[in-house]
Amino acid sequence: MNLVLLGPPGAGKGTVAVRLAEDEGIPHISTGDIFRENIKEGTEIGQRVKQILDEGELVPDELTVELMKDRLAKPDAAKGYILDGFPRTIPQAESLEGFSRVDRVIRFVLNDEEVVRRLSGRRVHPDSGRVYHVEFNPPKVEGTDDETGEPLVTRSDDTVEGVKHRLEVYRDQTAPLVEFYEKRGTLVDIDAGASPDEVLENVKQVLR
Ligand code: AP5
Repeated sequence: MNLVLLGPPGAGKGTVAVRLAEDEGIPHISTGDIFRENIKEGTEIGQRVKQILDEGELVPDELTVELMKDRLAKPDAAKGYILDGFPRTIPQAESLEGFSRVDRVIRFVLNDEEVVRRLSGRRVHPDSGRVYHVEFNPPKVEGTDDETGEPLVTRSDDTVEGVKHRLEVYRDQTAPLVEFYEKRGTLVDIDAGASPDEVLENVKQVLR
């Protein structure tokens, strides 16, 4: 099953994808995580995209598509994958059709108010990518990662202004993908406002 998770920032795509990937034994591939990893490692790509991510803009299609083409060619993606954050523009979706097949697109539906609540309370463990929320999914000890005890941080693009801008970018450049995939008969909506367990169960139901 080649799966695409679509939806606004903070809708819970990553939270579900991590658990689904574990249950299904297929990789969770997040373009955001790949870019952040490159920034952390100080690679050439990381240097090119750092400011773009901080400003909540989209990385150019050409670079993003090239990265994903390479990633999907790796052996672990041969029996299926979960794409989280890609494609994000019509040109990216058209390019993807040239090198892979998408079986199902799941759109996470969530209102803006809830997006802001989720992103303003999000905390992450930078090394592992583990995601928490101060209210909805707090760590065992405030401000520290459950596994390592290391400090949690707020993502540099999770500022009030940053979130507002990412929502605008989503509406302008990513929302048109809904019609794109509706036409192909692969799109299914799920209510992302439920608890993480319920959202995961709804996604699994769609896949059955
Ligand atoms: P990316 O990393 O993809 O960020 P995003 O789309 O903004 O999505 P998020 O990771 O913020 O949200 P999510 O839906 O995964 O939510 P999460 O599970 O963390 O992209 C970052 C940047 O990279 C982009 O702005 C762009 O610059 C660049 N980029 C990436 N892909 C690109 C592409 N294809 N083309 C060009 N540029 C690209 O959950 C959020 C919070 O809510 C957490 O605190 C979590 O604990 C909590 N939560 C989750 N589910 C629930 C629930 N059901 N109930 C209550 N709380 C919940």
